[in-house]
Amino acid sequence: MSRWPLRHVAFVGLGLIGSSLARVLREQGLAEKITACSRSRETLAQAKQLGLIDIGYLNAVDAVRGADLVVLAMPVNATETVLREIKSVIASNTVITDVGSTKGSVVEAALRVWSTTPKFLVPGHPIAGSEQSGVQAGKVDLFVGHKVILTPLAETDSSAVELVRELWQRAGADVLEMTVAKHDQVLARTSHLPHLLAFSLVDTLASESDNLDVFRYAAGGFRDFTRIAASDPRMWHDIFLANREAVLQALTAFETGTATLKQAINAGDSAALLGIFTRARAAREHFTHMLAGTAYAKSMTASKELIYNVTPGGRFVGRVRVPGDKSISHRSIMLGSLAEGVTEVSGFLEGEDALATLQAFRDMGVVIEGPERGFVRIHGVGLHGLKAPPGPLYVGNSGTSMRLLSGILSAQAFDTVMTGDASLNKRPMERIAKPLRSMGASIQTTGERGTPPVSIQGGQTLTGIHYDMPIASAQVKSGVLLAGLWAQGTTSVTEPAPTRDHSERMLRGFGYAVDVQGNTVSIQGGGKLTATRIDVPSDISSAAFFLVAASIAEGSDLTLEHVGMNPTRTGVIDILRLMGANIEVINPRESGGEPVADLRVRSAKLTGINIPEHLVPLAIDEFPSLFIAAACAEGTTVLTGAEELRVKESDRIQVMADGLLTLGIDIKPTEDGAVIVGGQLQGGEVISHGDHRIAMSFAIAGLRANAAIVIRDCANVATSFPDFIGLAKRCGLNISAYEQSAGDSV
Ligand code: S3P
Repeated sequence: MSRWPLRHVAFVGLGLIGSSLARVLREQGLAEKITACSRSRETLAQAKQLGLIDIGYLNAVDAVRGADLVVLAMPVNATETVLREIKSVIASNTVITDVGSTKGSVVEAALRVWSTTPKFLVPGHPIAGSEQSGVQAGKVDLFVGHKVILTPLAETDSSAVELVRELWQRAGADVLEMTVAKHDQVLARTSHLPHLLAFSLVDTLASESDNLDVFRYAAGGFRDFTRIAASDPRMWHDIFLANREAVLQALTAFETGTATLKQAINAGDSAALLGIFTRARAAREHFTHMLAGTAYAKSMTASKELIYNVTPGGRFVGRVRVPGDKSISHRSIMLGSLAEGVTEVSGFLEGEDALATLQAFRDMGVVIEGPERGFVRIHGVGLHGLKAPPGPLYVGNSGTSMRLLSGILSAQAFDTVMTGDASLNKRPMERIAKPLRSMGASIQTTGERGTPPVSIQGGQTLTGIHYDMPIASAQVKSGVLLAGLWAQGTTSVTEPAPTRDHSERMLRGFGYAVDVQGNTVSIQGGGKLTATRIDVPSDISSAAFFLVAASIAEGSDLTLEHVGMNPTRTGVIDILRLMGANIEVINPRESGGEPVADLRVRSAKLTGINIPEHLVPLAIDEFPSLFIAAACAEGTTVLTGAEELRVKESDRIQVMADGLLTLGIDIKPTEDGAVIVGGQLQGGEVISHGDHRIAMSFAIAGLRANAAIVIRDCANVATSFPDFIGLAKRCGLNISAYEQSAGDSV
């Protein structure tokens, strides 16, 4: 049986928050009777006129007598007085909640009045205020999409908490719970401190003799910063006194920050100023994304699932430039940070993975400007200039960040911990930890399977080793070589098959000698990196989706511009050509130490092949899209020697097989590959398991399907290809994306 409507709800105080909640109750018919008490007759008269209350009182006792729910919506420092007044008329089944900005003071007031904390009190705080106040300012939708924090105590009655939770949910709010202490600390920093600063700035400027001029010429920055100085003085007076300890702590931390800035300005310390501003700007952007629920933070905390819907047909025509190379973007930040001087990067991939690397180096004190439309300026700190990060380094979905950073961090003077998202937390890290340990590093992975988090103790002396790499992995090779920058003597790695050599090329670009003899790479420790300019070519791994798309969609003619053509990466072109694809390499050239070219691709009839094993490491990231090519080819394609695919962002053999089976394709996964028989793709729902490349591969499958393909769990496309949807649409794919609350069925 629903408990709504309640028989009688009483408000003590009818300002912005109280009157807005009263509007919700009225509009949704959630209370048969609403009473309120206010010190102001005028407020009560207005509330009555607005139809918000049935009866208004000048004293709390009369207002709350017989109520099922009492909402304390007056300034927090009146809490004790009000509770004392109403104590005698509170029935045993009455629930009391409040809306105050501090929670410790409310709980303490209740404790003083009842000697124990009453189980019917549910302390609450809607984070929905504004600088406006009063009954007239209230709005029925004030709480929609805002957070309400409840801070129930161990002794609080759970049905009372449920009642209050339901009320706020009906008002459209997102309700969450935390402890009283946590609430007060968080709010001191995120709400109380900014209000204090706004009041203080306006007051300081207003008391200057030329204040009229100051305010007359005040620009947008002043207006934005000080909007909240128009808030209710009495209310804020109460809040600061009620949350004294936490506010003082927050203020002390802020004073330390301004003292650092003052010193930097005084000393003309550009690096310090740029460091603070670029870090703050990045944090602010991150925070804006979090609030808007888009990109960056999404994969960390996604409560919504991103779903692609692709309807059949379409052909790929035109000229496009896909985003910058992910591997090179990572390395540009790493080497730029460790170099002496300022490195400028253009064409940087602004995807979540490379941004995670960028953030990690910012966390270690490197000043990095941008990225702004692919341009990044890195103020290198030299090989010995990194600083201990303030906490664990979070690298999201990015295996490259974690494995390459393992090498760098093993040689630092400070300890570090690296963590990742759910996908990365399943991926093997012992493959890099092991050789680093034999160089003298102190590095631990987690669990039986040697997965993240990875913990590294600093202060070790590293010695060069020769490492015979058991698997063909550019990440492991790079991680070991990077550690070798600090190691005594020579560090060399022999690889069982060629893997991407971006690290070697870029080290040379930064003036560091790298010796390559056959399949062995060596460097000497103890050199230095010198800043340079880097032009990142388009990522052939992102281009691969378009190469396959234009090959399988009839009537296609697409040119991909400025694609990276590093010979350790072009396996996808070789494999597609073996299948009969029509790919023309136009204007091959060199750009910043890496070969690039434009690629013209036209539709072609593909045929199944046995994929030569030597091409596997050269196309290691492109197999999800190659599986789609195979599904559209005539005959059978056999992949072997690709067991590495099982430990990528997902188990790509299994996940692709599951999806293609759903779409009606005859595919048999094997230990180290798959056997795929080309056929007619059907429509259906497939799951990408948070793997960006799986999501994009099934998207292009839509070109040849006979019904719509729905692809779930696609948010991680942002890790490598932020505007995939926009670009794919422009080329001719019938794709749309929408969000859905996690757990809902499609
Ligand atoms: C990468 C190397 C490859 C690749 C990854 C990026 C790199 O991994 O799959 O996407 O930037 O070094 P492995 O070296 O582990 O095969």
